Amino acid sequence: MDLEYPLVHVNDVTPEKLNLSEGWPDGEYRIVLDKKHGCSSTIYYSILASNAVHKKHKHSECDEMYYVVSGHALAGVGPDRVEIFSGHYHYIPKGIEHWLVNLNRNEPLVLIGIYDRCPSFELTGYDFLGDIPKNDMDISSRTLRTKDLKYHLVHDDSVPLVKVSRNEGWTQDYFCEPINRSHGAETCWMYGYFGPKTIHMKHKHKFCEEVCYALKGSGYAGVGNDRVDFNEGHFHYIPRNTEHWLANLSEEEVLIAPGFYIGVGGLDESGFEYIGPVTDNDLKLKK
Ligand SMILES: [Fe+2]
Repeated sequence: MDLEYPLVHVNDVTPEKLNLSEGWPDGEYRIVLDKKHGCSSTIYYSILASNAVHKKHKHSECDEMYYVVSGHALAGVGPDRVEIFSGHYHYIPKGIEHWLVNLNRNEPLVLIGIYDRCPSFELTGYDFLGDIPKNDMDISSRTLRTKDLKYHLVHDDSVPLVKVSRNEGWTQDYFCEPINRSHGAETCWMYGYFGPKTIHMKHKHKFCEEVCYALKGSGYAGVGNDRVDFNEGHFHYIPRNTEHWLANLSEEEVLIAPGFYIGVGGLDESGFEYIGPVTDNDLKLKK
């Protein structure tokens, strides 16, 4: 069945040709969503090979935020030097120099990220700033205390829960916003945790686009009249003011789905409107 709204699996996206002379690392870089999908921002999935380096660069036109799906790296953002691991969200404001070194000798570093409100990579103002001097990578210059960092680095484990209401169609256990307006971000990283047999019922966001990524587990999703399996590695794009819902139908597995409310600082700014329950009729295609 043809879909009206974009659902893209990372494995179905052809990696870009990376220009190593502009500081790009050995690895694979995929643009998963951008203006071709009607999205106001560019969403990427990036793999840095073991020991690969993404040299110093900045984006003069947009904030960037990424999430570490797996791996272990040294990240530089402005004056910050910090080790990042699976579960970290990093916020890089517009125009700030940044770089990455995959510290793992055997494993790739896998990231998902956004160029906020830049609808194509070309519009981000990518500016290659040169090699990473040895000094910058010296272990003595690393900091592990995130409270000392100038730019926000947030780990999943430390994110406070956002209060959601069953009266407004939430049946999952919790929801959170790792990076939101409180960090100065104009686009919110959110994180949906769906325990077994939980559903976020039909709703829409009047003021923002939403992107959801299936990080772990599988779900069944509705956007408009589309009904789709939402499997690990899928990105789902939901335009503003469009009815959508997401169900974890598994009896045992959890579904973890981070994503974005684009252009708003959090759920409370998104114009959330509860529409109604997901019915047996909605789920019948699945049965
Ligand atoms: Fe939503």
